[in-house]
Amino acid sequence: MGWKGVLGFEYGIIQGPLGPDISGPELVAAVANAGGIGTLRAPDWESPDYLRGLIRKTRSLTDKPFGVGVVLAFPHKENIKAILDEKVAILLVSWGEYPNELVSEAHQAGVKVVHQVGSLEDAEKAMNAGVDAIIIQAKNAGGHVLGQDGLFTLLPRVVDLVAGHDIPIIAAGGIIDARGYVAALALGAQGICLGTRFTKYSNFSTFGFTPNQSVLLKFMW
Ligand SMILES: Cc1cc2nc3c(=O)[nH]c(=O)nc-3n(C[C@H](O)[C@H](O)[C@H](O)COP(=O)(O)O)c2cc1C
Repeated sequence: MGWKGVLGFEYGIIQGPLGPDISGPELVAAVANAGGIGTLRAPDWESPDYLRGLIRKTRSLTDKPFGVGVVLAFPHKENIKAILDEKVAILLVSWGEYPNELVSEAHQAGVKVVHQVGSLEDAEKAMNAGVDAIIIQAKNAGGHVLGQDGLFTLLPRVVDLVAGHDIPIIAAGGIIDARGYVAALALGAQGICLGTRFTKYSNFSTFGFTPNQSVLLKFMW
């Protein structure tokens, strides 16, 4: 666990979902090929066929597992059905509650559920819902920000909350390099979720990156 990876992945680094138009198949496949957890982002509206296309394109670029992020505040039932039908490795949900019966449904489909939350209270709900991991997002995160607290105050409380529950806690918000990763581990996290740092690599075709490029190792050192 920790530096050595979470949820069966080689590294404990998640590339967070980056809006509906940034974390596409090329970036996600590059992260997956490098041993991290790449996540596509489902559209803000029901579009299961389009989403299936994104998933299949990603699979054409990598044979490694990856995830799809769903913002629960937007219409999502059909999109999640497509994610479960396609048996994507990870369903990453945020901005809303994801109760136990839906977590169980995902588990029955063989899909792990990771909930991104911004408070101790929401972390407790996610824990009680039986999710496989919790991303705790601090207020200095980029994009869709849930947290009102800084990582140094929020993360240790969530780590203490889940003690004994075997739920990996993943830190998000303002981590940009290996020093931030080490700091998150020191505070009790078992992995990190990065967003802003990956925006540098968001348009692979424009900047000439290939899906095999080891972006994670570039990040680490
Ligand atoms: C451009 C951008 C878009 C984002 N869009 C989403 C999103 O759609 N859903 C989500 O759960 N998180 C989203 N996030 C948040 C990330 O998942 C992650 O929590 C955050 O980027 C971590 O903080 P950092 O940006 O300091 O690395 C976004 C982040 C960025 C930078």
